Amino acid sequence: MSTTTISANTSQRKKVTTLTFRQKKERGEPITMLTAYDYPTASAMDRAGIDSILVGDSLAMVVLGYENTLPVTMEEMLHHARAVARGAKAALLVGDMPFMSYQVNVDEALRNAGRFLQQGGMDAVKLEGGRERADAVRAITGAGIPVMGHLGLTPQSIHQLGGFRAQGKTASAAKRLLEDAKILEEAGAFSIVLESVPARLAEHISKHISIPTIGIGAGAGCDGQVLVTHDLLGLFDRFTPKFVKKYANLHETMNKAFAEYIDEVETKRFPAEEHTVEMSDDEWNEFIRNA
Ligand code: KIV
Repeated sequence: MSTTTISANTSQRKKVTTLTFRQKKERGEPITMLTAYDYPTASAMDRAGIDSILVGDSLAMVVLGYENTLPVTMEEMLHHARAVARGAKAALLVGDMPFMSYQVNVDEALRNAGRFLQQGGMDAVKLEGGRERADAVRAITGAGIPVMGHLGLTPQSIHQLGGFRAQGKTASAAKRLLEDAKILEEAGAFSIVLESVPARLAEHISKHISIPTIGIGAGAGCDGQVLVTHDLLGLFDRFTPKFVKKYANLHETMNKAFAEYIDEVETKRFPAEEHTVEMSDDEWNEFIRNA
């Protein structure tokens, strides 16, 4: 175990805030972010020293088994947000606003953003889109709720984008992305996720806005990085995006453990004596006598 891990595990960390994000960018220190959807994962990440945890709408795919992120609801997001909030105390907690929770009108966007803080225990919300979301971002931040933007590959628009494909690859698309980033900054966003955009474009955007960018498939020039935890742990077996580094293969580990359990139960090697509860002979004999 490295010394970094030991100190992160044993010391009480200070709460990470949006100000911490800003200070890290100013100091050129990378911001770390991962997704979580449950108590034990959030707790392990928080102890490891993660800066921020996103309760992502990727929940729909990696936990609930849907084809894309569109079906997940506010109620489902809040249910998982509460579990994460119980597990993580220091990380900045960001609730991902699900499809149709902020697109209908600004009032609904504001009300649903508020629910993430009041009912989900989150510190901030994230929503997808650029200029078309500026009014919503203004209203939510105006109510004192920090907003993280999300540009580039925005999975809630896959049908409009024609699938999960990289964005900002032409000069005009890149120009529009930079403009959107500036609009979100002006509207009050405290940070922006850049997903699946060319590394040099992400670096350029990061240098031309004052709020931190968090990249996923956007290269090393962003101010921070985020990954979907189920990809990083090798828990999601359907597909792995090119930009993911697998730090473990837990699907394989789980598969082996389950197969071993099944085998041990079927061959009566589990439970063994050390896994069973005993009672005294006296109590047993009395029980048998009166049975
Ligand atoms: O839902 C999610 O996990 C996300 C990340 C990919 C940034 O939005």
